[in-house]
Amino acid sequence: MRTCYIPYFLLLISTCISCGPKEAKNHIQVGFAQAMSSDNWRKEMEKGMQVQSSLYPHVKLEIKNANNNVESQIQQIHDFIDERVDVLIVSPIKSKPVTAAIENALKAGIPTIIIDRKIDGNNYTAYIGANNMDIGKDAAKYILSGIKDFTSVVQITGDIASSPARERQLGFESVLKKSEKVKLLATIHGDWEKPSVTGPLDKLLDSMTPGYIFAHNDRMAMGVWEVLKQHDLQNKVKIVGVDGLYGPNGGIQYVKDKILLATILYPTGGAEAIDLAVKIVNGEFVHKNNTLNTVVIDSVNVDLMQNQFNKLVEQQNDIEGQQQVINEQVKAYQSQNSMIKLMIGLLVLLLALALWSIYSAVKISRSKRKLEIINEKIKTQRNQIKKFAQQLKESNDSKINFFTALSHEFKTPLTLITSSVETIFEQNKALVGQSSFEMNLIINNSKRLIRLINELLDFRKLETDSFTLKPRKSDIKEIMEHVLGDFKLEAVKHSVQLKVKYPKSPCYLWVDTNALDKVFFNVLSNAMKFTPAHGKIEVEIFEEEEKVKICIRDTGIGIPQEDIQNIFNPFVQASNNDRPSSGLGLYIAKQFIELHKGTIAIHTQKGTEFIIVIPKGNKHLQHIKIYPDNIQIAEEFENHLKPSEPESILFEPASVQDNFSDLLIIEDNTDLCHLLVKQLKNDYNIYISIGNDAIEKALDIIPDIVICDLNLPETSGFELAKKLKEDLRTSHIPVIVLTAMGDEDSYIKAMNAGADFYITKPFQMDALKQVLKTILYNRERLRYYYTNKLDSIASVGFDKDEQDFVKKINTYVLENLNNPEFSVEELAKELHISRVQLYRKVKAILGVSISDYINGVRLEKAQELLQDSSLHISEIAYGVGFSSPGYFSTAFKNKYGITPKRYRN
Ligand code: FRU
Repeated sequence: MRTCYIPYFLLLISTCISCGPKEAKNHIQVGFAQAMSSDNWRKEMEKGMQVQSSLYPHVKLEIKNANNNVESQIQQIHDFIDERVDVLIVSPIKSKPVTAAIENALKAGIPTIIIDRKIDGNNYTAYIGANNMDIGKDAAKYILSGIKDFTSVVQITGDIASSPARERQLGFESVLKKSEKVKLLATIHGDWEKPSVTGPLDKLLDSMTPGYIFAHNDRMAMGVWEVLKQHDLQNKVKIVGVDGLYGPNGGIQYVKDKILLATILYPTGGAEAIDLAVKIVNGEFVHKNNTLNTVVIDSVNVDLMQNQFNKLVEQQNDIEGQQQVINEQVKAYQSQNSMIKLMIGLLVLLLALALWSIYSAVKISRSKRKLEIINEKIKTQRNQIKKFAQQLKESNDSKINFFTALSHEFKTPLTLITSSVETIFEQNKALVGQSSFEMNLIINNSKRLIRLINELLDFRKLETDSFTLKPRKSDIKEIMEHVLGDFKLEAVKHSVQLKVKYPKSPCYLWVDTNALDKVFFNVLSNAMKFTPAHGKIEVEIFEEEEKVKICIRDTGIGIPQEDIQNIFNPFVQASNNDRPSSGLGLYIAKQFIELHKGTIAIHTQKGTEFIIVIPKGNKHLQHIKIYPDNIQIAEEFENHLKPSEPESILFEPASVQDNFSDLLIIEDNTDLCHLLVKQLKNDYNIYISIGNDAIEKALDIIPDIVICDLNLPETSGFELAKKLKEDLRTSHIPVIVLTAMGDEDSYIKAMNAGADFYITKPFQMDALKQVLKTILYNRERLRYYYTNKLDSIASVGFDKDEQDFVKKINTYVLENLNNPEFSVEELAKELHISRVQLYRKVKAILGVSISDYINGVRLEKAQELLQDSSLHISEIAYGVGFSSPGYFSTAFKNKYGITPKRYRN
């Protein structure tokens, strides 16, 4: 847009610069058709014209030289006509041939001035020149004035075809005729130039010697003198010439040099012709014939004439000099003028550009503002969209979270219902001897509901990428056997043959047993669903070098080919399957197998075959956390819980058994509490807290184990675990987290809070019992270790706090070894805990009472002294803090089964 204006600006500038000289269109174009320029007289004529023209700044003079060629002159006249000159000046070479051309110029409306020589007739605008008749007459008169008696004359004419020659001859002869004292001996016709004279005159002089010779111009007169000189007559014959030019080879100088007697001044009329032309163009009146004055120059006035000419030349030089200065000033003025115009042009351009810039800046700022507004709008819209998306996500998330939480909430009651119904079912069966149809229906549908909830929760975890594989080294045969256990009864009921083919040795794979359990269950239940009565389901496990292949074949109705590619997609059912299904089973199976970097494929023709391939080893699971063996993840259970009796829950055990371990259960679900009490009361003294008084209870009881839920009414399991582990009095107590929160984050949070075990609901009661047993067994092992290796307690599996605690006890005991007064109260005070808490904590960690433990330390020291020193037994007894040597001996024998004396020997 901007660039297309630039040419206009440039045009404007060039216009500004170029306007001026051309603008004053009143200049006068003058064309001069010169006859020739070879002689000085002609040169003088042209100079006169040029100097005069320069006095008129608007006159432009152009001279065309015909070089004495008539044809050329005619052509040049026509050229001037074509150029449409304002005035034409012609000095005709010959009169007649040029006449027509001049008439043409007049016809073309060009005023024409004839100078020096004439044309035929009067068809011209003006004539300027001397009167050549008079020149001839003056020459004759001058000769006559100089003679006394009689003389003879020879006349030498110019080109007789030109008017000056004819007229001068006429004038000269007209005067001579009237006088009797002069005789015209001969007339030689020259052509105005010297060579045309010499030959004829030379001849003539052979026969006669005239008194005077009249030559029509000074050039021919000079030729006459030269010929006279050859004849040695130069002093006898007098010469009269015409032109009277000023300068070294001019007539005036010849007169001065006595070559010529006289010369008649014949003015060129150059300057006057320009004046005349200007007048004509300006419309001023001019005479048709403008005669220039002539004068005879001889020895009498030659100096005067020369002086005058000198002055004239000086003046002319002055004029020329001034003209030169004027020209230079004009030039300077013009260049300054151009410069000013250029500057003005540039200024205009600058101004235009400045305006354009302001205009553009305003335009750009407006566009920018518009853009900013649009941008602002887009931003607002984007923020709104973002906000909507966020709201949508939040609403979606809260729905899904609600749905997931609800599903979680369903799990515990469903588990309880199922296990309770199962117990009733078992009792009923024992009483009646057979199972009722309704009972079976309730059990089967409860199981189905639990499965569906589990499937939905798994699906959610897979969708949100929050499912964490917990791989452990497991025998795949065992997992398959466990799953098949659930199908055996159903297979018998539907007359379906279940066949298995396993390798002999265990088939270890790094798998998440829960996930694989579900894979096998889903594939097998799919097979069971579509296998008709008297059909067959075959399970085969092949162990290969780097992988294990599990094939599950059935003789069912198969899956239509068109459904195969979608069968592993969520919520998809084969088109030939009209039975109720979540459509998630096979999808979850595939996802779980792929999480193990395995594959699951399907072949269907007659019946269906699922081929599951899982890689061996755990290299392919390097990106996944491999769970350490001491963290036990409880197996998810479907329906094996033993039901609890409906009874009111006791927060303290009815009777405390000394040989039982103390178990504190922190749980707000009363049903679950009932179930746990019922299942564990025969082995443990059970204390219950719903969370609010958990810490107080724990400090009061110092239980052997704590089982703790995560979601509690007034506090959280994370907080409780942390508090218990941070307090020296309770830090040794193993904490089992029992929760429905199966996500990775909760697990890590619980572990960081100090939990020792993490079991997710629904759980297998047997697994929980096993965990409890393992904890107590490990504690026992540690107790044994500590009570028998008192000095080196830096053992694996014992917490640092506990190590420090035992070390502190050892230090105090050893410091007070010979002090029989050192009491348990004193030690408790040193450790900043109560006597009862010290007793319970030592009992929990070391399995002995604190007093027995102190005695043990003393006895161990005594054993050392008996071995390594020569001290007397009684000295050793007092030295290790026993009040009497007899009591020391009894105690030593009780611990080591041998008296100190015998031990030393
Ligand atoms: C110059 C000239 C003069 C002469 C004139 C006549 O060319 O020959 O010497 O006077 O022409 O036209």
